[in-house]
Amino acid sequence: MLKTRYTMNENLEKFKKEIEEKAGQITSPESLEEFRLYYLSRKGLLNDLFENLKTIDKSIKGSYGKALNDLKNFAMELFEVKSKDISKKTSKENKVEDFTLPGKTYNTGSKHLLTQALEDITKIFERIGFKLYEGPEIEDEYHNFDALNTPSYHPSRDMQDTFYIPGENKENRYLLRTHTSPGQIRIMENQQPPIRVIVPGKSYRNEAISSRSLSMFHQVEGLYVDKNVSFRELKGTLDYFAKEFFGKDIKIRLRPSFFPFTEPSAEMDVECFLCKSKGCRICKYTGWLEILGCGMVDPKVFEYVNYDPEIYSGFAFGMGLERTLLIRHGIPDIRMLYENDVRFLKQF
Ligand code: PHE
Repeated sequence: MLKTRYTMNENLEKFKKEIEEKAGQITSPESLEEFRLYYLSRKGLLNDLFENLKTIDKSIKGSYGKALNDLKNFAMELFEVKSKDISKKTSKENKVEDFTLPGKTYNTGSKHLLTQALEDITKIFERIGFKLYEGPEIEDEYHNFDALNTPSYHPSRDMQDTFYIPGENKENRYLLRTHTSPGQIRIMENQQPPIRVIVPGKSYRNEAISSRSLSMFHQVEGLYVDKNVSFRELKGTLDYFAKEFFGKDIKIRLRPSFFPFTEPSAEMDVECFLCKSKGCRICKYTGWLEILGCGMVDPKVFEYVNYDPEIYSGFAFGMGLERTLLIRHGIPDIRMLYENDVRFLKQF
């Protein structure tokens, strides 16, 4: 059929354009095969043109033959490229997901032990009506010491113990709070009794770092002020907390102590978790572990915040969170809480 349609004088350039255009339209195995049949098969156009070569005038046979060869190579190259494209495309389309293969596993994060403990403690106190309050970590001397009835010669004010922030403010220097107790003052300055709050947060002391202490640690402060608050309520509240936090069978004891801002003051110990009060290395053979300081709010402190000590009384306590966790989980070194070793963190 082609023989009649095309003569040797046909312009090969026209075919080249046509071939290029047709190749561009190949999008499926079917159109690829159509292209092959039409141009490259034994009965295809190119073979027809080669047939015509026999009848051509000798003088132009050589150059025409060469041009025809080039055209054939051009068509074959296009065919190769296109057939690669198509086989890539179809193999992608035919690829079936194997749903029986094991899936990718991703590590899920979890809350840090300290965060978990802070949340636990907050919930325990919220159940008995305490509200959450957070004070600033950069405090002034007035809130951190003066208003807490801590005299100017008290050793805790020493540069050795407190991180002061350099500045002009010589009268009332800024510092990193050394405990969460200034939170007591800030609340009482702004609210009237009854007050029932806990104040968790970071505290800072210029300590040598060891297995027992860090220069940054967390405390949870508690404050309860109302008419007729008694020491008995303090003890009951702390006993409730210890049983909720450490377990129903835990025993506590209060030892007389001293803090400038509470009178009388005490320290609370819990039974040593390791030796059950028999005495061991962890509890230094006392059978008890100290977890917090507490006491009845000193009337002097009430004067600083303009509460009438004749009308109101209250109790306060402050516990070291890291120490408490070491006890609850039997962690031998406080620094493990901050090293973020996944083998450690995974256990909680
Ligand atoms: N602020 C005290 C400390 O850091 C603890 C404390 C808080 C004691 C409240 C009594 C009342 O050691």
